[in-house]
Amino acid sequence: MLRRLHPEQPDSFAFTSANQAWAEAQITKYPEGRQASAVIPLLWRAQEQEGWLSRPAIESVADMLGMAYIRVLEVASFYFMFQLQPVGSVAHIQICGTTSCMICGAEDLIAVCREKIADKPHVVSADGKLSWEEVECLGSCTNAPMAQIGKDYYEDLTSESFARIIDDLTAGKVPVPGPQNGRYGAEPLKGLTSLTEYESGKTQYNASVQLATDIGDTVKRIDGSEVPLLTPWLGKDGKTASTKASEKKPPAAPAAPKPAVKQAQEAKAAKPAVKPAEKADVTAQEQPDTLQAAREGGADDLKLLKGVGPKLEQTLNELGFYHFNQIAAWTPAHVAWVDARLKFKGRIERDGWIEQAAQLAAGEETDFAKRAKDEGTYEK
Ligand code: FES
Repeated sequence: MLRRLHPEQPDSFAFTSANQAWAEAQITKYPEGRQASAVIPLLWRAQEQEGWLSRPAIESVADMLGMAYIRVLEVASFYFMFQLQPVGSVAHIQICGTTSCMICGAEDLIAVCREKIADKPHVVSADGKLSWEEVECLGSCTNAPMAQIGKDYYEDLTSESFARIIDDLTAGKVPVPGPQNGRYGAEPLKGLTSLTEYESGKTQYNASVQLATDIGDTVKRIDGSEVPLLTPWLGKDGKTASTKASEKKPPAAPAAPKPAVKQAQEAKAAKPAVKPAEKADVTAQEQPDTLQAAREGGADDLKLLKGVGPKLEQTLNELGFYHFNQIAAWTPAHVAWVDARLKFKGRIERDGWIEQAAQLAAGEETDFAKRAKDEGTYEK
C-alpha cells in the first residue's frame, strides 16, 4: 500500500497540556543529543490523541525533537501502526486477516465492514463514526477470528456478533471486549481438560477483559488525564502521581523539549575536542594524576555526575579519582586512558563528565545534580 500524507490536512496540531507534559517527560528518558529516540512514543501519543497522524502532528513532533520533518515522516510512513489518514470519530476497526482468523471467518467480518462501514479500507463511514482495515496477526489466534477495536480485542467473532458490536459502537455504546461466544479466555472450545479446580474461582471476566472494562478507554481518545504521568527515572512514583491533568507538573528538567535539544547542541559545541573513546588511538592514552586516597575533607560525591552510579564511583575511586577537579582536568589522552579501564566505553564523553565536573568543582550546580539531590534518585 502506498503510504503518504493525506491530501486533506488540518491547519495545526497541539498536544493537550497533559499529553505535552507526558511527551516532555518521555524525552528526558534519553541522554542529551539522543532526543530523537523518543520519536515513536511521541508519534503514538499524537495518534492516540487525534486518531491519526496529520502533517502538522508529524511536524510538531519533529520540532519537539529537533529532527528534520522528513526523518519523522519516514518513521510515520514506515510503520503501518500509524494511520496517515483520518479514521472514524468513534473507532478504527482492525480485522486480523492472517491464517487462523482467515480460516475461521475473517472474510465474513470484512464483508460486514464493507456493508456497514465503507466498501474500502481506510475510508471513513458516511456518518464519520467508523473506519476499518485488515491487519496481520494480532497474536490472539486461539480466539480467531478477531478484531482490535480501539485499544481492545474482540474475539471469537461471527458475522452476527460482529455486526452487533458495530451497531452498538455506532449507537454510542462500548461492548465488553474479549471472547464473544461465551468462552472465558483461550481455553479449549469444549471446556477445560485440566486445572479444572480453578473453574470455581473464576471472576466475571478474564484478567484482560476485566482490566479493559475497569479502565474503560477502549475507544477513548487519550488526552493525558487517564493515567498517572509515569516518570520513575525522574524520581516520580507513578503510583503516587496525581491522576488529574491539572495537578500534574511538567518534569523538573528539561522544562521544555526545544531547550533540551538546544542544551544538547550547546553542550556538544562547548565540549572539548575529545575523541569518542571507542575510536581513540590507544597510543594516545596518558595516565592522569591519581590519588592514593581522597584529600582531607573527604571525597566528592561522584554520583552527582550524570551517568555515574555507585559501582562506577567505586571504580573511579579505585583508579585514584575522588574529586571533581581531577575529572575536570582530564585531557583527551586522559579520557582515553580512563575509558580503556571502564566497562562501558564512551560514556565519559557521552554524558559530558568533564563539563559537569568542572561546574561542580566550581561550586555550581548542574541540572542533573540538583534533580538527583531534590529527588534522591541517586544512591548515597
Ligand atoms: S491469525 Fe488472527 S490473531 Fe493470529
